[in-house]
Amino acid sequence: MIRIRNVTKRFGEQLVLDGINLDIEEGKTTAIVGPSGTGKSVLIKIITGLLLADGGEVLIGKDSMTAAKNVQERLDICARMGVLFQAAALFDSMTLFDNAAFPLRYRKQLGEKEIVARTAKRLKDVGMLDYADRLPGQVSIGMRKRVGIARALVTDPDILLFDEPNTGLDPQVGQEIYELIAATQQHLGFTGIVISHEIPEVFQVCERVAMLYKGKVVIDAEVEEFQKSNNPIVQQFTRGDIEGPIKVG
Ligand SMILES: Nc1ncnc2c1ncn2[C@@H]1O[C@H](COP(=O)(O)OP(=O)(O)OP(=O)(O)O)[C@@H](O)[C@H]1O
Ligand SMILES: [Mg+2]
Repeated sequence: MIRIRNVTKRFGEQLVLDGINLDIEEGKTTAIVGPSGTGKSVLIKIITGLLLADGGEVLIGKDSMTAAKNVQERLDICARMGVLFQAAALFDSMTLFDNAAFPLRYRKQLGEKEIVARTAKRLKDVGMLDYADRLPGQVSIGMRKRVGIARALVTDPDILLFDEPNTGLDPQVGQEIYELIAATQQHLGFTGIVISHEIPEVFQVCERVAMLYKGKVVIDAEVEEFQKSNNPIVQQFTRGDIEGPIKVG
């Protein structure tokens, strides 16, 4: 279980997160949705300890990410998590294999033989083993995202975070990535967080949905309850309407 308690984050004058409260249930996938610029990526970076919150607490199981005293303590907590960043964020000069193996090599706990075996297994899971020797620039963005997922899975984390797993992909490849996430979730049973503004597509990979707007959680519900909500902010966002309480642009 991940508990987010009253988390605030400000950049200069801009209050991005204004007291976020959210429980992420264990073994389920929760989608975090909301208009662009509402702080979804900032929240993921705070959960993983890449950014420091100004206030509040984030608990990963029993460990408090926000109470961690230094980078090493944050990295230790983050070791339980796998992350697919918004733009896949592969290293351009490393092969796809070395990219996927990176978290294992970085931790220096395993021998090379074991690293190669685990990495090959994950690349196979995402259908990318045949391309392992290529560089990121030599494959499509959809393939890079697959490798990003393999890299997120390679340490067998019990928590996985996907930031906009199919942004920038054509609908068919985007659909393949969702199917891959759903299949690996079923297979591995991790606690998942998927950030997205694709509604209803994201519902195929999540049990719960939390919507952020203006620095707050406006709704945190099961998918069905979210779809039935009569909150005008939720309704406008779900329908993609221009008119309503959410100001576009
Ligand atoms: N490092 C930073 N320094 C200053 N401002 C930042 C920083 N990171 C994010 N912001 C600002 O915080 C706000 C929220 O950004 P964030 O990237 O979390 O949005 P988002 O909800 O993920 O949007 P999108 O759907 O477009 O990815 C934005 O206004 C952004 O400009
Ligand atoms: Mg984002």
